[in-house]
Amino acid sequence: MDRRPFIAANWKMYKTIGEAEAFIMDLLPRIKDVKDRDIMIAPPFTALQAVANAVKGIEQCFAAGQNMHFEQNGAFTGEISPVMLRDIGVDYVILGHSERRHIFGEDDAFINKKVLSALSHDLAPVLCVGERLEDREAGMTEEVLRQQLTKGLNGIAVEGNSDLIKKIIIAYEPVWAIGTGKTATPEMAEDAHSFIRKLIEEIFNSTIAENILILYGGSVKSSNITGLMKEEDIDGVLVGGASLDVEHFERIIKF
Ligand code: PGA
Repeated sequence: MDRRPFIAANWKMYKTIGEAEAFIMDLLPRIKDVKDRDIMIAPPFTALQAVANAVKGIEQCFAAGQNMHFEQNGAFTGEISPVMLRDIGVDYVILGHSERRHIFGEDDAFINKKVLSALSHDLAPVLCVGERLEDREAGMTEEVLRQQLTKGLNGIAVEGNSDLIKKIIIAYEPVWAIGTGKTATPEMAEDAHSFIRKLIEEIFNSTIAENILILYGGSVKSSNITGLMKEEDIDGVLVGGASLDVEHFERIIKF
């Protein structure tokens, strides 16, 4: 098993173009010798082209959208299409983030259309899943993950598509841990991650399950990443708040 660590920043609705450029210019020299892991940065759409330009040609650094529509174009006021993301040199797109699900009402069927569309446009989807506190307290965590993954990954035939499927990244982000300062313990996260890997085997096959990257997200900081990354099935992290500060993010990258 050779899963390369993947450290992702989700800036949410933070940073102007100038702030994003200054961050990347500060970050790149700090990480120039870090070659054994991949780094993804998802700025707001307005700063996305600037970030994509700044990381262009840097082998281990990628720009990502935080969301997209599944159509290529059309009368969808306020939306951005996969073609537009490709057009500015974006390689990854976060889909189904809990804020999209719970604030903006995106459901699994809608997110599934985006996953299929991303793959067909050669964009790597980072599909976010995760239970709410009430789901966990009701013992429903695994059921919620099963629903989100089987529905979110519906309609992707394994045969003939293994190169496409290899692009998929899963991010396990328990909703109760996002932005709250409450991280899942490494053991809790590992339980969910190993369950997710088993589900991926059921949905696709064991080779895909062994190779797929499963990131943990939810109050990741430089002080807790090491414990999380020691777990067998945790291949990387998706970091919100702690990715906004370049020194802190550098420490996370170099965990
Ligand atoms: P957080 O956000 O690190 O601020 O908890 C993570 C995320 O929402 O991806």
